[in-house]
Amino acid sequence: MSAARWLGLGAAAALLSAAALAQAPAAKPAAPLHQYPDADLVLGAKLYAEHRCAACHAGKVGGDGSAIYRPKGRINTPGLLRGMVDYCSTELKLGLFPEEVTAVAAVLQRDHYRFPATQAPR
Ligand code: HEC
Repeated sequence: MSAARWLGLGAAAALLSAAALAQAPAAKPAAPLHQYPDADLVLGAKLYAEHRCAACHAGKVGGDGSAIYRPKGRINTPGLLRGMVDYCSTELKLGLFPEEVTAVAAVLQRDHYRFPATQAPR
């Protein structure tokens, strides 16, 4: 970034993108989810894979397991979704921290539930 300045490129676009790069922490999503504004999606995806959530669901419903997620079913708000992840974590003794529960819920929201942004956070 300092090299760009040193070269005297000076173009506003170059400076802006350099600043954006410098400020964006690698683990944060480009656009935060409205439903879980503080969620770390990278962490959530990692935990989701680590705890084999999909593997067990697949054993139950077949396919890749995603048929178990029914946004129009019992779990039909972002709050209930987070609550369900919390419940699973407790039941399965995963010992997820609160921010980890939020992270996993956010990944499910992004990939499966897709509750509208108008729904209140948590
Ligand atoms: C040992 C098996 C097993 C594991 C591991 C598991 N689940 Fe589940 N999960 C289930 C079963 C069975 C259901 C269906 C419960 C029901 O509908 O009564 C379920 C349902 C759910 C639902 C609600 C689906 C809906 O829309 O009704 C969510 C969300 C969920 N699981 C998330 C997770 C997450 C996240 C993980 C990993 C951290 C996980 N589960 C790990 C067995 C498992």
